[in-house]
Amino acid sequence: MSGQLAVITGASTGIGYELAKIAAAEGYALIVAADEPQIHVAAADFGAGAVRAVEADLSTIEGNDQLLGEVGGQAVDLLIANAGRGLGHAFLEQSVADWRQVIDTNVTGTTYLLQKVAAGMVARRQGRILITGSIAGLIPGAYQAVYNATKAYLDSFAYALREELKDSGVTVTVLMPGPTDTPFFARAGMLDTPVGKDDSKEDPAKTARNGWDAVMAGSAHVVSGAKNKLQAALSHVAPDSVLAHQHTKMAKPDGE
Ligand SMILES: NC(=O)c1ccc[n+]([C@@H]2O[C@H](COP(=O)([O-])OP(=O)(O)OC[C@H]3O[C@@H](n4cnc5c(N)ncnc54)[C@H](OP(=O)(O)O)[C@@H]3O)[C@@H](O)[C@H]2O)c1
Repeated sequence: MSGQLAVITGASTGIGYELAKIAAAEGYALIVAADEPQIHVAAADFGAGAVRAVEADLSTIEGNDQLLGEVGGQAVDLLIANAGRGLGHAFLEQSVADWRQVIDTNVTGTTYLLQKVAAGMVARRQGRILITGSIAGLIPGAYQAVYNATKAYLDSFAYALREELKDSGVTVTVLMPGPTDTPFFARAGMLDTPVGKDDSKEDPAKTARNGWDAVMAGSAHVVSGAKNKLQAALSHVAPDSVLAHQHTKMAKPDGE
């Protein structure tokens, strides 16, 4: 793998951090991005070799252009579009700024980056793309409504793009984690919810390994973890109204 370039967003913590560790161990040169200075600390963990860190707000076109500027004319062999954020609580309590940040990061920024990087891959007829969607995209997310809807977008988009690119030499894979033990729930303001407090969440290193194996195999998708596979299977047969009600039980904050 030596000499190949991976671009990984949201690599400062959690699942993206673990994916970047794997990519570095596999010999990829890395360009990693996140919004906070922690990305520079994380980059140091990925090895002293060819690792460049970009601190940019990927909810904006400018932030994504900053990342693309760092890539310059280099061929990207692997894109891991993983940056994302959640947002708990009842929709009517969420500020416009907060839900826009979720949509702008998870949907708009990710879509923009995918279009730019995929165009270069298709021109070279080579590349792998891993998008971090979620099993949340299969379930109407009462008390996390905007977030789950953004993940429904990404889960769907990944399959559509995969189909469009099927003869292009570029593969598209969607990683669909379930609840995973990362700073995600604290950042989403969900520590006062059953899912936020659940201590049986999946290890992000395992989630990352499952995503890595799937993108290297060129698979369409991977649901990470046995419990999450069952949940995903149920989502295909249970009515959406039932799923939304079940989600309330996981995501409704104490006292609401
Ligand atoms: N944890 C779960 O249960 C779970 C389940 C299913 C799917 N996922 C998905 O997995 C992905 C990674 O989440 P995680 O669980 O690993 O949570 P995490 O530890 O909070 O990681 C999120 C990463 O995305 C970055 N990020 C967020 N907003 C950004 C922005 N506007 N610009 C640049 N970087 C941004 C964060 O960097 P900064 O701190 O610098 O903003 C961080 O590196 C997300 O797409 C999430 O939706 C998570």
